Amino acid sequence: MSHSNPISVPTSRRRFLLGAAAITTGAAAFRFPTPAIAQGAPLKVGFMLPYSGTFAKLGKFVDDGFRLYVERQGGSLGGRRIEFVQVDDESKPESATDNMNRLVGREKVDLVVGTVHSGVAMAMVKVARDTNTPLIIPNAGVNEATGPMCAPHIFRTSFSNWQVCQPMGKVMFDEGRRNAVTITWRYAAGAQMVDAFKEGFTRAGGAIVEDLALPFPEVEFQALITRIATLKPDSVFAFFAGGGAVKFVKDYAAAGLNRTIPLYGAGFLTDGTLPAQGADANGIKTTLHYADNLDNPANRAFLEAFKAKTGQDGDIYAVQGWDAAALLAEGLKATKGDWSARTQATAAMRAARIDSPRGPLSFNRAGNPVQNVYLREVRNGRNELVSIAGQAVDDPARGCRIQA
Ligand code: BEZ
Repeated sequence: MSHSNPISVPTSRRRFLLGAAAITTGAAAFRFPTPAIAQGAPLKVGFMLPYSGTFAKLGKFVDDGFRLYVERQGGSLGGRRIEFVQVDDESKPESATDNMNRLVGREKVDLVVGTVHSGVAMAMVKVARDTNTPLIIPNAGVNEATGPMCAPHIFRTSFSNWQVCQPMGKVMFDEGRRNAVTITWRYAAGAQMVDAFKEGFTRAGGAIVEDLALPFPEVEFQALITRIATLKPDSVFAFFAGGGAVKFVKDYAAAGLNRTIPLYGAGFLTDGTLPAQGADANGIKTTLHYADNLDNPANRAFLEAFKAKTGQDGDIYAVQGWDAAALLAEGLKATKGDWSARTQATAAMRAARIDSPRGPLSFNRAGNPVQNVYLREVRNGRNELVSIAGQAVDDPARGCRIQA
């Protein structure tokens, strides 16, 4: 099913759209509500995602994955119909508080699902805490969201920045890498992912030659790539995502470095990007909580359904959106669709055990996923599973005061 594109709406509320009663059908259902909660007013989900900019495809795939899950449940979760409002956050932290306040205050959503960018997510978490609005983060990895800023109504169906990168340090050391240059965007996600990688790599015995960074979302990589060529480390660890990842991988190969200095990274470097990166991505090894060829029934069913709906291959962003809907379903099932029984719903969500396309998915006391982290290698245009880099990896949730 397709849905409206927020960038194309020519009104002053251009970035706000009421999703067309989402999955369910006509206006009649709204004009003549039946009394039981199961058929009552739809639950209003606010999507705050990037629908434009370097993370546009990521936001779209989160949105598609979530809607697909709901659609396959017949448009209802726990007997409650679902409708959507969406806002393009443009991956701009400076607009995030206003966007979130409009969803919560003006649109009166029941919960918010968002976002991709760690800096935007931090502002969302603050508003979610101040207004006691349930929030499911379907991508952004900012550690604080499930660390010192944790709350019983805040969940993440993705990862923490620490979680997916710390295991890569040992992987690289075990592959014989002894010194590395890091390169990323200069913002929360880049800094935290690089720190986590360095923690794992130096603990294993590796050394960091130099940390390189450029402002988000710049893509003028040439000077930094020249610097890598000069430093001649035996490996490079990178975090970029979306359009920036496409350009970095292509520039790295154009400079010939892919033949002399192996490139490793957080899985976002090659997830959802391979059609555009082509052969330039071959051989790149990354760690992530997903691999394209995970051979489990949930992944096979998800990939088939996603392809049928969108004509495209599913990726980690779509999985995270799908799982955000699966998590909400757990809460609504526990209360038979009654979102006013919020405490019961969020407790059920904390206790959820989801059969995810990524493998088993549960949640720690801070609402962060406990999940496998996989080593993948790009082969034949896919992120193929090499091994499990970390089984049931939990985030330490440093600073979270919720007790287990
Ligand atoms: C982040 O900002 O947290 C992020 C963005 C894209 C991919 C992964 C993480």
